[in-house]
Amino acid sequence: MFYYYGRKKQLAKHYPESNFETIVEPFAGAAAYSFFGDNWKKNVILIERDPKVAEIWDWMINSATPDEVAALPDLQVGEKSSEFLHIIHAATKMAFKYRTIKVTPVLARNWEISKRVISSNLHRIKHWEIFCDDYTAAPDVEATWFIDPPYKGDPGMGYGFSSSMMDYEGLSRWVLSRRGEVICCEGQNGDYLPFEALKPSKGVAGKVSVEKVFYRTSLAERQPTLPLAELKSELLSIV
Ligand SMILES: C[S@@+](CC[C@H](N)C(=O)[O-])C[C@H]1O[C@@H](n2cnc3c(N)ncnc32)[C@H](O)[C@@H]1O
Repeated sequence: MFYYYGRKKQLAKHYPESNFETIVEPFAGAAAYSFFGDNWKKNVILIERDPKVAEIWDWMINSATPDEVAALPDLQVGEKSSEFLHIIHAATKMAFKYRTIKVTPVLARNWEISKRVISSNLHRIKHWEIFCDDYTAAPDVEATWFIDPPYKGDPGMGYGFSSSMMDYEGLSRWVLSRRGEVICCEGQNGDYLPFEALKPSKGVAGKVSVEKVFYRTSLAERQPTLPLAELKSELLSIV
């Protein structure tokens, strides 16, 4: 729906299709996977830790109208803006540090595109839910879990809630305990799950950024399994 550093708009088609009626994005950002194809028709639950990002979703889901969005002023190159919704249209990780931004031609163009996309697609997200919270507060439901945290190390720095604040071992345990299927995204430093290469993608300024994914189907064993003692006695009773 809007430009955002790290959004998965171009990559969405490369991830596995959703096999559940509910999609949860516990690191919402611009939630490009939930918006992709027909995914938006499902029950979509977004969790986002950054209040400024969650506020955009809350506005789009619970109050904005198409006419209101279409009537928002265009941005003029060279003018300054302190609106977070404008600033993130610079789509760089530096954007999260700016309080005010000078509008570049790229930003003005991105904003103009987003206004059109948002106003004509608002009806697709009115049934979605947004919670401004930590990912661990997500409801424990059976779903397609599209988990796209700030990437470990440098690529995930910059966000208001960045990779430096993440406990990746804790995240890996949480990922494995989800009900349903799990799609977890990472970059070059992702080492806390058995990630596989997704595909090389062109990053900013032609730099190739490494994209990895961990996919666990709903059929795989959910962790944690039985405590060891119970497991042993179950096995003994089978033998
Ligand atoms: C890589 S971005 C997600 C991009 C998204 N998939 C898209 O298509 O735009 C990661 C997001 O996680 C948020 N975040 C960081 N720490 C979080 C936490 N502990 N719980 C929930 N969200 C968090 C960041 O603010 C950021 O918006």
